[in-house]
Amino acid sequence: MTQLAGQPLPLACFDPSAPEVQRDPYPHYDRLLREDPVHRGVNGIWFVSRYDDVRTVLGEDRLVRQGIRDFWSQLVGPGPLSGILSRTVLFQDEPDHTRLRTLIMPAFAPRALRALEAEIDRLVAELVGQDAGELDVINDVAYPLALGVISTVLGLPAHDRDRLRAWSLRIGPTLDLAAGPAEIADGQAAMAELTGYLTDLVDTRPASGDLLGILCADGDTSREEIIAMVVTLIFAGHETVTNQIGNGVLALAAHPEQLELLRSRPGLVPGAVEEILRYDSSVQSNSRQLADDLELGGKTLRRGELVVALMGAANRDPARYAEPGRFDVTRTGVHPLSFGSGMRHCVGAVLARLELVAAFRALVRLPGWRLPTDPDALQYQRSTMFRGVLSLPLAHEAQTPRRTP
Ligand code: HEM
Repeated sequence: MTQLAGQPLPLACFDPSAPEVQRDPYPHYDRLLREDPVHRGVNGIWFVSRYDDVRTVLGEDRLVRQGIRDFWSQLVGPGPLSGILSRTVLFQDEPDHTRLRTLIMPAFAPRALRALEAEIDRLVAELVGQDAGELDVINDVAYPLALGVISTVLGLPAHDRDRLRAWSLRIGPTLDLAAGPAEIADGQAAMAELTGYLTDLVDTRPASGDLLGILCADGDTSREEIIAMVVTLIFAGHETVTNQIGNGVLALAAHPEQLELLRSRPGLVPGAVEEILRYDSSVQSNSRQLADDLELGGKTLRRGELVVALMGAANRDPARYAEPGRFDVTRTGVHPLSFGSGMRHCVGAVLARLELVAAFRALVRLPGWRLPTDPDALQYQRSTMFRGVLSLPLAHEAQTPRRTP
């Protein structure tokens, strides 16, 4: 335990919504990992930080989602938000979870995604300009890429992407413990507009080979479930990738020698993406409710209690990674828990990696990176679960054209 003037300091009650934790959670995780890896924090919630324990929590079928769904539904109150929360695959337990997950899995299998690789490269080339200048990594590159890709998979009209982004930005803040009544009311209105838009699309959908067409043709899935699935995929498929690109650019900008290494050895980019996911994940945590008692880290967690698995902490567990706070794009054996684990492992992990690798290949090629804004002044999204900046200006020099053989 930390000593101050000979007095042991008790580990404070961990609260992921505290502004200092949201700004930089890593010193707090470090303390949890060292002093109390299975910690009873704010509101009696258990916070689990060790790599192996996080894997247990995410993979255990004694840990379910129902209580979490009820918690969020209560928080936002009746309305379109809880309509979606009650049907999304993210909050279902068995057998509905597997039924809904199985419906979308084939569309995100490596073989199905192969055809999308050229489209991802085309989008990246269009978004990452080669002339000298300044771009906003989040708004000019990351979000149009991630939303463009998931819209293509779903078969959503390209001209509606700005509207989808605008709805998404209004709904996002409602998925936070600190959401106020005004944010929730605006999120409800935005969700009503989004579900209205999707209902029209579903009702007028001709048979098609994209994912929305496949979902509409499935006789066992209700219209409400289809809409909840599309909303889930729009969110899960673009907020996460967008934030991850921003977090990776920030890590590289803070470690210019690592950026230089990637520039001189672009073959390191896929490994660097794993390190970026480990070092600063865009999804920091996930929650469950205990359907039965569980012994973990010498403590007894009781049926009905809520448990938060801190993947952001597990990715920095010194028992798993040597010098976990060091950002090293050549690190080997990196298996970040950023995509979760077990039966709920992220359906979009292969797609996300394709997008991240394509984005970083193009971004690291831009010479003379400079962050015109002090990183300490950047504004992070307010969320206990997601981590990412709202805007990230990046100045760069002109790219010398690659010689064609
Ligand atoms: C860097 C990008 C991403 C990260 C860090 C991420 C992270 C995660 C995590 C941690 C989970 C597990 C949730 C849990 O345990 O309850 C998850 C589930 C999921 N993700 Fe992702 N995700 C990313 C990108 C994507 C993309 C591109 C898609 C688009 C298809 C996607 C779709 C999903 C879906 C549908 C689930 C639910 C799986 C289930 O409950 O069985 N994700 N994601």
